[in-house]
This record gives sequence, C-alpha cells and structure tokens, in this order.
Amino acid sequence: MIVPDAVLAAYDRFADVYDRHWGAMMTAPVLRMVEEHLIGQDKDAATPATVLDLCCGTGQLAAALLANGHAVVGVDGSAAMLAHAARRAPEAVLLHQDVRQLQLDQPVDAVVSAFDSLNHLPDVEDFRATMQRVFACMRPGAGFLFDLNTEEGFRERFADDFSITEDNLVLTARGGFDGEVGSYRIAWLSPEERTSDEVATGRVWRRYDVELAQRCFPREVVLAALHDAGFLDVRTFDAVADVGMAGHVGRRFYLARVPA
Ligand SMILES: C[S@@+](CC[C@H](N)C(=O)[O-])C[C@H]1O[C@@H](n2cnc3c(N)ncnc32)[C@H](O)[C@@H]1O
Repeated sequence: MIVPDAVLAAYDRFADVYDRHWGAMMTAPVLRMVEEHLIGQDKDAATPATVLDLCCGTGQLAAALLANGHAVVGVDGSAAMLAHAARRAPEAVLLHQDVRQLQLDQPVDAVVSAFDSLNHLPDVEDFRATMQRVFACMRPGAGFLFDLNTEEGFRERFADDFSITEDNLVLTARGGFDGEVGSYRIAWLSPEERTSDEVATGRVWRRYDVELAQRCFPREVVLAALHDAGFLDVRTFDAVADVGMAGHVGRRFYLARVPA
C-alpha cells in the first residue's frame, strides 16, 4: 500500500541525498522535450510562457526553465525538497501542495512532471483525480508532459540493489516489485558534527532509512484518465527508443493537450 504522507515524509528525510545524486538526472532530456513539444508553438510569443513543474523536487528543472526565459510555478508536497528548489530557483513561484489537491490562482501555459513522480500516487482513483486537477489548471491549448515507470521498467530497474560509497555518505538501496507496486528501501549513513557546549568534539555517523514506493499504472489506465479529464491528442514516447535516454528502460513519456 502507498501512503502519500509517508512518501512525502520519506522525501523530506531524503532531500539532501536526492539533490546531490538524482536531482539533475532528468533535467537535460526533459528540458529538450518541453522546448520541442510544449513551448515550441508559442516560441515567438511576446510574454514568457508559464510552466508548471509538478512535483518539482529540488528544482533543477525549474532553474533550467527559468534560464530559458520561462516563468515557473513549482509544486511539491515535500517541504525539504522545496527548500532546495527555493535556493536553486529563487525566481520560481513555489507551492507546497499535494498534487491530489492541486490548485493554482492562474492557468498555466504548460505542465511538466519529471522522473516518475506521478507513480507515487497511491491508486487509480487518485491518479484520475490528479489528471482532472491538472487539466483545470491549464489554459486552452496548453500541453502536459510527464513520464511514468511502466511494468517493464519496474521489472528491469527495480530488481537492482545498489550502493554509493563516498567520503561523507554510505548508502545502500534494495529494490522490489510485486506486480503492482515497486519500491526502493534505502538506508544511509552520513556524518554529523558532535558538539559539547558548542565545541566540536568529533563526528558521529547517523543512520537514516526511507522507503520510496510507486504504483504501476498501465497504459490503458493512463490514457483513460487523460481522456476522461478532457485531454486530447495524447502521444507517447519511449525514453530509450524515442528520447535517447540510455538506461531508462521501461520509462514512458505521455504528452497530452487541452483543447484549444
Ligand atoms: C522522484 S522525485 C522527482 C523530482 C523532480 N521532478 C526531478 O525530476 O528530480 C518525486 C517528487 O514527487 C514529489 N511527490 C510525490 N508525491 C507527491 C504528491 N502526492 N504531491 C506532491 N508532490 C509529490 C516528491 O516530494 C518528490 O519531490
């Protein structure tokens, strides 16, 4: 079972490590796709496009979108992930929201959600409700781009265990997939300064544990949710074959549009 509050609490604890090791992983290919598929048609518009980065995490994509001249609204449910985003993309409007209750003051010109963030939604009902929330936040003609891990991706990539060993970090991760939910159990040690009466007396290594769980949403479920929310012109892209993202086996991008 996926409990959204537990997922967000896990990201709160994991934010510093995520930022250093995973935060930039999707930025370049997703930025290229945003420019090509979401903004392309409006390139000559006098006003900058406003892009909603849904589940913006630690803000690397938000910063890249700002650098390309777009206005950015970032939404994430983890306060610690957002704190990184605020440092990295200070000009972005950042909102601490659960995407299942997404609400914006103004409609946006494009929405992007990167790095299988929406796989964290607990069930089909929440996935469908989120698609409706996103649709309601978009102006007519706007595009929505997101990626999801597919069953193939869970079977290929969540089967792995991996570890990271650095001067200040020892991390081990164990993946698993039960046919519906995939998860990584991650444990890590990192050093903290120990002080006594505000005098440094040495370092202690502290252990942290999180579990990051994701649901597999079949293609037909995603297409029905997009259609029923009102989206048109849905296209899909395989991350490896169509986007050239080596190693991202079983990652599928969806591109959908609000009717003009
Ligand atoms: C794998 S990270 C991706 C972050 C960023 N998009 C990137 O590409 O690095 C998933 C993000 O989704 C956020 N998230 C997960 N479930 C959420 C929810 N229900 N509402 C808002 N944010 C959520 C997490 O806090 C986390 O920042």
